[in-house]
Amino acid sequence: MSLVLDPAAQDLLFREARTANTFTDEPVTDEQVQAIYDLAKFGPTAFNQSPLRVVLVRSAEGRERLVQHMSEGNRPKTATAPLVAILAADNEFHEELPALLPHFPQAKDVFFGERPVRESSATLNAALQAAYFIIGVRAAGLAAGPMTGYDAAGIQKEFLDGDHTPLMVVNIGKPGEDAWFPRSPRLSYDEVVTTV
Ligand SMILES: Cc1cc2nc3c(=O)[nH]c(=O)nc-3n(C[C@H](O)[C@H](O)[C@H](O)COP(=O)(O)O)c2cc1C
Repeated sequence: MSLVLDPAAQDLLFREARTANTFTDEPVTDEQVQAIYDLAKFGPTAFNQSPLRVVLVRSAEGRERLVQHMSEGNRPKTATAPLVAILAADNEFHEELPALLPHFPQAKDVFFGERPVRESSATLNAALQAAYFIIGVRAAGLAAGPMTGYDAAGIQKEFLDGDHTPLMVVNIGKPGEDAWFPRSPRLSYDEVVTTV
């Protein structure tokens, strides 16, 4: 009664959406990824910054290089998912701020002149954008399998550069056989929410 979103959409995005560990062979197209990003990009960030960067690993050679940097248990699913994306934070996101925040272009220098400040802001806001991206994957009728079990320095060296920090690797596709573990419990409202 309290939610205005259609219950079927609530299920698709949250209640019935699961983290997939296996996938079918059905490809994930660039058009689908674009539709996902064009939804996710509207999620809010501080100063309207946009530090998320997405590397789609489509080539067999790229996939092989990536799998080598994944932890043992993550390798089989990373090797077989129809699409794998590296989500990273751009620590030089401030260069785009004048265009993204036209009513306050000085924010670039006033707030983000120092690299350590930029790094912490990029990490937080790109992680938010990564979450919006995962919900976008679900909105496309697909399942996401986010992973941080990897050698971050190796992935950074292999696929990114010193200005880009890996945040997570996400397997994307239609869930396959035995795609998930049993649903684990969540904290209840009362355990999480306090009112002052
Ligand atoms: C940031 C992040 C990192 C994760 N890293 C891994 C990982 O390295 N390996 C893995 O098997 N699952 C990983 N997971 C999957 C979580 O364990 C899973 O999303 C969580 O248990 C909820 O599962 P459910 O969506 O099926 O309820 C990760 C999830 C997130 C969001």
